[in-house]
Amino acid sequence: MLPKVPQARPCIPEEDIAALLEDFAQILRSGRLTMGPYLARFEQEFAACVGTEHAVGMSSGTAPLEVALRYWGVEGGEVVVPTNTFIASSNAALLAGGRPVLCDIDPQTLSSGLPQIEAQVGEKTRAVVAVHIAGLVAPDMEAIRSFCRGRGLLLLEDAAHAHGARADGQPAGSLGDAAGFSFFPTKPLTTGEGGMLSTNDRDLAAFARSFRTHGVSTEGRSLERLGTNYRLPELSAAFGLRQLARLAEHTAARNRLAGCYRRVLVRLGCGAVLLPEFAGRVHAYYKFPVRLPAGQQREWVVAQLRRRWGIEAGSVYWPPCHLTPFYQRELGYGPGDFPVAEKVLSQVVTLPMFAGLSDQAVERVCCGLAELLAEGACGVGQ
Ligand SMILES: Cc1ncc(COP(=O)(O)O)c(C=O)c1O
Repeated sequence: MLPKVPQARPCIPEEDIAALLEDFAQILRSGRLTMGPYLARFEQEFAACVGTEHAVGMSSGTAPLEVALRYWGVEGGEVVVPTNTFIASSNAALLAGGRPVLCDIDPQTLSSGLPQIEAQVGEKTRAVVAVHIAGLVAPDMEAIRSFCRGRGLLLLEDAAHAHGARADGQPAGSLGDAAGFSFFPTKPLTTGEGGMLSTNDRDLAAFARSFRTHGVSTEGRSLERLGTNYRLPELSAAFGLRQLARLAEHTAARNRLAGCYRRVLVRLGCGAVLLPEFAGRVHAYYKFPVRLPAGQQREWVVAQLRRRWGIEAGSVYWPPCHLTPFYQRELGYGPGDFPVAEKVLSQVVTLPMFAGLSDQAVERVCCGLAELLAEGACGVGQ
C-alpha cells in the first residue's frame, strides 16, 4: 500500500524541532510567556522580510484583516472582496462592522482583476481587499493600486497564501496600505495558529498593538478603545522565527515542485489546464490549482483520488463565498451572481503541495489524475 499524499503539511525539519525545544525551554524557564522578546524579534524580522516598517503579531490571519478594516472605519460602509477566497477575507469586513461586496474573477487567473473590482465600487466603498490567491500576487495588483489611489480607497492585501511571494521584486505584504498573513498549519509559514499585520502606517500599527490587548494604550495601562485578545504567544513567536528562517528554502522547494507538476502534466497530456505563469512574479505556490476539462466533475475527481490512491486534493475555492449558506441567507447572494467564478471554480482542483512533497508523489498524483480524466465523463453521477 503506497503512502497517502496529504494536500498540505507543515515543514519542520528535525534540526528545527531540536532548536525549537531549546527555545521553548528558555521561554518556559524565563516565565515570560507572552509579549516578550521572541515576539519582538519575530515582528522585527518579519517586517524586514516583507519590507514594511511595521509588523504586528496576532492570534490568527483573520485578526489583521479585521483590525486594519476597523482602523480604516469601514463600519457602515462597503468593502469589495473577491468571491474567490477563503470566507475569512470577507468575514473580516463583517467583523469590522462593514458590508462585504463580492466581485467576480478573471477566468484565466482565478483572481479578481480591476474590471471585476471596479464593477462593484460605489458611493459607500471604503476599501478593497486584494487576495493573492494560491500564493500568486494578484496579477492586476499594480492597476488595482493605482485605481484605489485615484479613488481614495484603502487597499488591503490578503496575503494569507503569499508568504515569500513577490511582484517585480517587491514582497507580498508591502504592496497595499496594509496586509494580513495567516500562520495556520497548511500555510507556507506556520506557527500552529497565528497571523501578522504588515504596514508602513505607524498609527495603524499602534492601533493594532492596542486592539490586540483589549484596547489598552501601547505606552501605559489606560483603556483607550474597545479591543480584545488577539495576542501571539512567545512559544508561537519562537516557532515563527524558525519558520521565517526557512521561508526562502521552502518557497524554492515549492516552486521546484510546481515546475515538476507542469512538466509531468504536459508529458501525460491528460487535458488538465495549467494556470498561466507571470513574468516578474515569485509565486509562493501555497496551492497548485489546475482546471479540469469541461465535462469533468470536480467532486468525483477529488473523491476518486482519495479513494483509489489516498491522494488529498482540494480547492481554491469551492464553493465561492457568495454560494455559502450564510452569505446567501444574510447578504442576499445566490447562484448566478458571479457566473465566471461559478463556472471556472467548479472545474478547479488543487493538487497536493508542500515543501516536503517528493517528486515521486508528484508523479503519482499526475498519473492518478490522468487515469481519472481518461475515464472522462463516465465519472459523472458515480
Ligand atoms: C485567503 C485567506 N484569508 C484569510 C485566512 C484566515 O486565516 P486564519 O485561519 O489564520 O484566521 C485564510 C486562512 O485559511 C485564508 O486562506
